[in-house]
Amino acid sequence: MATPSESRHGMWSSRWLFILAAAGSAVGLGNIWKFPYIAGDNGGGAFVLIYLVCVAAIGVPIMIGETLMGRYGRESPINSMRKLIAVSNAGSYWSAIGWLGVLAGFFILSYYAVIAGWALNYVQLMARGEMVAITAESAQQVLSDFHASPLQMVFWQTLFMVLTVWIVSGGVSKGIERAVKWFMPLLFILLLILLGYAVTSGGFAQGVDFMIGFDWSKVTVDGWLIAMGQAFFTLSLGMGAIMAYGAYLPSDAKISSTVFMIAGLDTAVAILAGLAIFPIVFANGLEPAQGPGLMFVTVPLAFGQMGAGILFGALFFILVSFAAITSAISLLEPALAYLVEEYNAKRSRVAISLGVICWLLGLGSVFSFNIWSDVHVLGDKTVFDFVDYVSQNIMLPLGGLLIALFVGYALPKELVFEQLGLKEGLAASLWMLSIKVIAPAGVLIVFVKTIYDTVMG
Ligand code: PHE
Repeated sequence: MATPSESRHGMWSSRWLFILAAAGSAVGLGNIWKFPYIAGDNGGGAFVLIYLVCVAAIGVPIMIGETLMGRYGRESPINSMRKLIAVSNAGSYWSAIGWLGVLAGFFILSYYAVIAGWALNYVQLMARGEMVAITAESAQQVLSDFHASPLQMVFWQTLFMVLTVWIVSGGVSKGIERAVKWFMPLLFILLLILLGYAVTSGGFAQGVDFMIGFDWSKVTVDGWLIAMGQAFFTLSLGMGAIMAYGAYLPSDAKISSTVFMIAGLDTAVAILAGLAIFPIVFANGLEPAQGPGLMFVTVPLAFGQMGAGILFGALFFILVSFAAITSAISLLEPALAYLVEEYNAKRSRVAISLGVICWLLGLGSVFSFNIWSDVHVLGDKTVFDFVDYVSQNIMLPLGGLLIALFVGYALPKELVFEQLGLKEGLAASLWMLSIKVIAPAGVLIVFVKTIYDTVMG
């Protein structure tokens, strides 16, 4: 079966736009909001190290695999899988990769929009000067008051979903490309400014020490599980987002170097976010292991004390919101592209319907912070904790495992090598080793442990 050179949904204007779009998908709340608090919860340096190992040894090889699958298929993950299964003479059960991805996308976006809504709310809180010269306690109080109001939380969640649906409706070049072209570079600059502030905060040495000083006794099996889940989440792997974006990648672009660049950018943003946030935590006597609220307490605190804090603080949260939007659109794209293909439906109409479903699901996460805070789904998990946990620690690693096995064992080797422009040699062998053995074994071990823990409570 010949592979088409273009996708019917449109194409990235160049390899660079793919890099920006995929980095836009990868860089998001996972880097700026989640990574620092997960690292904080898990002891800092030891965690950061195993996270880097997971990204390099498992994440990057799988990302290469997912991109090449998308580029060969040139359609939504579900239909690309159909083609790949046909060309490989593989069993139809592999189509689970596409379906699982669509489901994971819904789960993630449902709570992702809620947190992104917090960032939107903080844009106006910062801009109105509500955080000027605030103390750590009052910064915490502002967040708790916000969480206590379902109405306010739903308002911002809704606004975020509307923006996401609007951008994704514009299509590959008029919607997604336009958004990432501006917001990604700006995000980087703002992050550097915040880092500059952190350097002068008085807590920098302690912050750096916390991020890189590591202690083997803090490396636990749980730490590996969380680090691996985070590696999948932050690189947008295992749910078809990268496959969907790979479908729009020009045929002459080199996949491996492109993926290295995306993973490098994503890792850099996560580390910079940690280096910007922890010094402020220490300088203000806050706790690093503060959980999901970390970014919404420390960052406003820092900007509240800066000269032009109103301006930079508002800008920072605008950019966090956009980092979140460029990820959110990639969470919708697999399901969206599939429905457009299957029913020849209008992109905007499909986007709205999918947006409404995600929004409804997301109400469960909103209420987890207030009226349903006592409702527990699994052990002591609220609905929000549950969808976060199941998608990040089970669905994405499972999707990644299946992708690695499919690329490693089912796809014809010639197809893979042709897509990658690879010849037999050291690089090819290393990549094959990871995709066939290291990545599946790594995911499997940690995955079995997760299921065991979940079942045993
Ligand atoms: N990578 C995104 C982030 O770090 C989240 C994401 C996960 C996006 C999976 C798409 C697919 O915020």
